Amino acid sequence: MKCMKRRTIVLLSLAAAVSICSIQLLSAEAIQDAITTIMTRCSVRSYLDKPVEDEKITVMLKAAMAAPTAVNRQPWAFVVIRKQEVKTKLAEKLRSAAMVEKAPLAILVCGDLNKRLKGDGADFWIQDVSAATENLLLAAHAQGLGAVWCGVFPVEERVKDVRSILELPDHIVPVALVSIGYPDGPQTPKDKWNESLIHYDKW
Ligand SMILES: Cc1cc2nc3c(=O)[nH]c(=O)nc-3n(C[C@H](O)[C@H](O)[C@H](O)COP(=O)(O)O)c2cc1C
Repeated sequence: MKCMKRRTIVLLSLAAAVSICSIQLLSAEAIQDAITTIMTRCSVRSYLDKPVEDEKITVMLKAAMAAPTAVNRQPWAFVVIRKQEVKTKLAEKLRSAAMVEKAPLAILVCGDLNKRLKGDGADFWIQDVSAATENLLLAAHAQGLGAVWCGVFPVEERVKDVRSILELPDHIVPVALVSIGYPDGPQTPKDKWNESLIHYDKW
């Protein structure tokens, strides 16, 4: 619990540092907490029957919007979903996101095509939105929540279904539906470290 609180403080400090555009030196303990948050995150698909506090939702959205973004276009938008009937409709249509039905919260992370770059960099928006999604997952985990990224874009049928259920305008592309809640038990992160995937100075 103490560790969770410390991680939340680290995250809030990071968000504050970004918002005032200053670079702050982190203590060794804060660095270790940040790395621990990254290394212990894992997908969580079942949750306690307990709502997620508004303050925690704000921290997740702030973290998402602090993500790196090509030419600082910030081509993202978010839909916070708490109504049971909406979650049920999404879960029925997106079978790979069935856990949303019993999650207290879902956040849809979208791309805003009106804010995309022109020319060769036109598709960078997908990477920007993905970076925002990962930040959101980390902020969830840092606050003691569990979350899972459910892919929507580029699967056409999922895009169409989410678009219709949430009445998204044409320039808004649903990319990731993140299902969020308090984990209903302890989680074990996967160890994905694989040194053979690393190349130095050439392939
Ligand atoms: C682009 C993308 C799409 C994903 N879509 C789904 C999904 O539809 N349903 C689901 O349960 N998990 C989904 N996941 C979560 C992955 O299954 C999960 O990240 C992976 O198994 C690694 O496990 P970990 O997150 O616990 O490290 C998705 C993850 C990504 C990055």
